[in-house]
Amino acid sequence: MNNPINIRKATLADLDGVEIVENQCFDGDQFSRRQFSYLISHAKGSFLVAESEGNIVGYISLLQHSGSRSVRIYSLAVVPTYRGRQLGQRFVDISKEYAKEKGLRQVSLEVNINNKAAISLYHKNGFVVTTAIREYYHDGSDALRMRTFF
Ligand SMILES: CC(C)(COP(=O)(O)OP(=O)(O)OC[C@H]1O[C@@H](n2cnc3c(N)ncnc32)[C@H](O)[C@@H]1OP(=O)(O)O)[C@@H](O)C(=O)NCCC(=O)NCCS
Repeated sequence: MNNPINIRKATLADLDGVEIVENQCFDGDQFSRRQFSYLISHAKGSFLVAESEGNIVGYISLLQHSGSRSVRIYSLAVVPTYRGRQLGQRFVDISKEYAKEKGLRQVSLEVNINNKAAISLYHKNGFVVTTAIREYYHDGSDALRMRTFF
């Protein structure tokens, strides 16, 4: 499967597709439609979707908190059938470009301590663990806060 994947800014018309991605990618701790609606249309940051063959196959939500020196990867997901094709990598690259455009020098995020794939993706991109946050997720798992500087 090598169909092209286009990454673009999301609109509210993408809500159904984004919800499908969310349901395929997260078991619990899922964002609601209302939260996605806010993130796409009102939040200070950027919400991008990856589209292939007319379907949304991934998304990234970036937030720029007032007064913060970093851009936060609030959520990032790629549907199982499109994993391993460097789409997660493209989203991480975009987060760094976005930070640079805004004159910021850091990207930060929280990731489930058990999420080996995501932690490996972030390590590969120079992220380091700055803190562990106990019982951050609904199932009681801890989170790692990670950050990269450039
Ligand atoms: C984490 C996730 C976004 C990775 O997306 P992806 O498009 O498959 O990742 P890529 O193909 O861009 O992989 C880039 C790198 O990530 C790491 N990686 C990706 N999947 C991995 C896996 N299953 N095991 C170990 N490392 C993995 C590797 O370092 C890989 O580099 P390589 O291709 O040279 O081996 C995807 O697995 C996903 O959506 N998971 C569910 C949702 C999630 O966990 N989101 C992150 C929340 S913080």
